[in-house]
Amino acid sequence: MNNITLLAIETSCDEVAAAIYNTEKKLLSHAMFSQTEYHKHFGGVVPEIASRSHIVKINGIVSEALEKSGKSLADIDVVAVTSKPGLLGSLLIGVSFAKAIAGSTDKKLIAVDHLEGHAFSACIENDIPFPFLCMTASGGHTSLYRVTDYGKFETLATTLDDAAGEAFDKVAKMLKLGYPGGPIIEKLAGEVGFEDFFDYPRNKLNDLMFSFSGLKTAVLYSLVKKGVYSMEQKTLLTDDMTLKKQVASSFLNCVSDIFVSKISKALHEQRDYKAIAFVGGVACNKFIRSQIQQKVANKFNIPLFFPSPLFCTDNAAMIAFVGHYKAQRGEFSPLNFEVY
Ligand code: KG4
Ligand code: ZN
Repeated sequence: MNNITLLAIETSCDEVAAAIYNTEKKLLSHAMFSQTEYHKHFGGVVPEIASRSHIVKINGIVSEALEKSGKSLADIDVVAVTSKPGLLGSLLIGVSFAKAIAGSTDKKLIAVDHLEGHAFSACIENDIPFPFLCMTASGGHTSLYRVTDYGKFETLATTLDDAAGEAFDKVAKMLKLGYPGGPIIEKLAGEVGFEDFFDYPRNKLNDLMFSFSGLKTAVLYSLVKKGVYSMEQKTLLTDDMTLKKQVASSFLNCVSDIFVSKISKALHEQRDYKAIAFVGGVACNKFIRSQIQQKVANKFNIPLFFPSPLFCTDNAAMIAFVGHYKAQRGEFSPLNFEVY
C-alpha cells in the first residue's frame, strides 16, 4: 500500500473521537465528543456512564469525521483503533465498532496503544528529530520516554502513585473547584500571578520516577492546619477564593518544578537528545509549558514541542498518526485481537 487512507477511532476513556488520515495529505479531519459535562458532578469519570454514552455517539462521530474529510467509507483502506490501556467498557465500544467495519468491508485493521498515540502526538503537526525525550502527562498516565524512531520508544520513568492530571483533578475536588481540575487550577493560579505561596514539598526522589500523592497530602494538611478542612466530613469548610487561588498557584508551581527537575535529570543522563516533547492533557497548561521552555529547553539549547491543545487531551488524530506508520510497515492486527 503506497497511498493509504485510514480511519482512526479512540474510545479509551470519556472521549469518543474519530479521524481520517491520508499518506499524502496527512490529517484530513477529526471529530470528537467529550463527556466532561456528564462526569463533572462526580469529580471524575464514571466508567458505566462513559461506555453508555460511547455506544450512543460513536456512529455520529465517525460519520462526522468522514464527512469533514470528503471521504466515504469506501475510500478507507485501514481502520485503526485504540485497544489499550483504558476503561474496558469504553475500549470495547470503539474496538467492536472498528472490527465490525473492518470485518464486514474487508479492510485492514490495526490495534493502537493509547500511550504510543500520546507519545507521538506532537509529531502530528511537527517534524521532530530523533531521538527525542517525551514527557507524557495525562489524567491516567505520567511517563518519560526515550523515543528513537516512529514506534520505537523506551519507558524511562512512570509514576509511583497518582498521574499528574489525576493530582490536578483531586486537588481541584478538595478545593471544591469542579472537574476537570487542570484548566480551573491554571486559571485561578493566573489570578494571583502564578506565585508560590506555600512552598509545598518538591519530589525528593533521586531518580526519574514521579510521585504526586505526597503533594496531594501536603495540600490537604495545609488546609487542615488552617482549620478550613474537616477530615471527618472530608470537606472544605471555606469559600475563601483568595485562599483557593493561593493553594492552586502553589500546587501548580510545585508540579511544574517536578517536571522541570525530572526532564532536566533525563537530559543530563543521556546527552544525545535532539528535542523534547511535552504531551497529554496536562501539556495544555501554558504555565508549565513556559517553565519547561525557560528552565529546560533554553538551558539545554534544544527545541521543545507540544501538540495543539486538541491533540494534548484524548483524540483520534494521534491514533491515526500511529496507525498510519504501522500500516506503511504492514503491521496489521487480526480481527480477533484482544482488549486490555
Ligand atoms: O490526556 P487526557 O485527556 O487524559 C488521559 O488520557 O488520561 O487529559 C486529561 C487530564 C485531566 O486530568 C485534566 O485535569 C488535565 O488533563 N488537564 C490539565 C489542563 N487541561 C487538562 N492539567 C493542567 N493544566 C491544564 N490546563
Ligand atoms: Zn490519554
